[in-house]
Amino acid sequence: MTLKRILAVGAMFALAGVALAQTAQAPAATPTAPAATATAPAAVPAPGAEVTATPEAAVAVAAALPADGPAGPGDAKAGEGKAAACAACHSADGNSADPQYPKLAGQHERYIARQLALYKSGERDNAIMLGFAATLSSQDMRDIGAYFAQQVVTPGVADESLIAEGPNAGRKFYAVGEKLYRSGDAARGIPACAACHGPTGSGVPGPTWPALHAQHAQYTAVQLRAFRDGAVWGKDANASAIMAGVARNLTDEEIDSLASYVQGLHNVIDAPPAKTAAR
Ligand code: HEC
Ligand code: HEC
Repeated sequence: MTLKRILAVGAMFALAGVALAQTAQAPAATPTAPAATATAPAAVPAPGAEVTATPEAAVAVAAALPADGPAGPGDAKAGEGKAAACAACHSADGNSADPQYPKLAGQHERYIARQLALYKSGERDNAIMLGFAATLSSQDMRDIGAYFAQQVVTPGVADESLIAEGPNAGRKFYAVGEKLYRSGDAARGIPACAACHGPTGSGVPGPTWPALHAQHAQYTAVQLRAFRDGAVWGKDANASAIMAGVARNLTDEEIDSLASYVQGLHNVIDAPPAKTAAR
């Protein structure tokens, strides 16, 4: 793969600032996949075989979680009860029925805990989630995260209808996003999404690299537009500006196509039989 590509991915890491600079010192915590996929897609770990849990101490962003911490690993059983308040929107098993609410099933425990901490502190701005996160302790956040992490995400489907007009006319709707997801566009400084989120969208366990697979396209598109507008989750040393850099040059068509592609992504190992599988 080209030097340009490597530089583009490198630039994304530079943008990530402190959080990434610190994880870079701890190779086990860094998804070494980014560099690897960018240069040699064959080096991407097989789906399901992807990466082990991130060592707790090695991840910089975890440091900024709420003052009542540090919390220990989540207890899924305790989390099940604590998650009852979330069911109205996210469903009891984390597979929300309404596409404006993200699926939490199969999401990584520490990613969920970090987002709840960011909502509580207002560093991720959302009035609804501020209300629900406000009463949670950091241990509650880990427990709830552990509960949803154990749930199995229901598969989604990518939109295969043909694009009617424009330069991509005649291609399947998700195809524009598929190409970006796998290869990025080095000329425009867009890194391959797979480099960080994995070839099947399973992310990396830990606070920083969310699973995307089977997520509702509507929710994903809203987040990508917010990132394109410069949204950064977290403040100061806790800030993660990666996605603002990634999304900066995405067009509307690319965002909607990426969101559709991601909705149809699944881990091959978890996937239902081929005839019902989302592409
Ligand atoms: C009234 C509906 C509602 C309820 C109830 C609710 N949420 Fe949410 N949740 C949302 C919405 C809307 C978003 C997307 C917010 C945004 O755009 O940042 C969200 C986002 C999230 C996210 C971020 C997901 C991601 O992929 O980044 C997490 C984690 C989360 N909610 C957890 C919870 C938990 C835990 C509870 C219960 C304690 C809960 N929610 C209750 C509506 C709700
Ligand atoms: C260099 C690593 C990296 C690359 C490349 C990358 N992402 Fe991300 N992505 C992240 C991180 C880190 C987060 C979590 C955001 C945070 O903590 O601020 C994230 C979050 C997201 C989210 C929000 C997930 C949720 O549940 O709310 C979406 C959607 C997303 N990325 C899509 C993409 C797409 C699409 C691409 C390719 C165009 C991409 N990402 C490329 C690192 C990356």
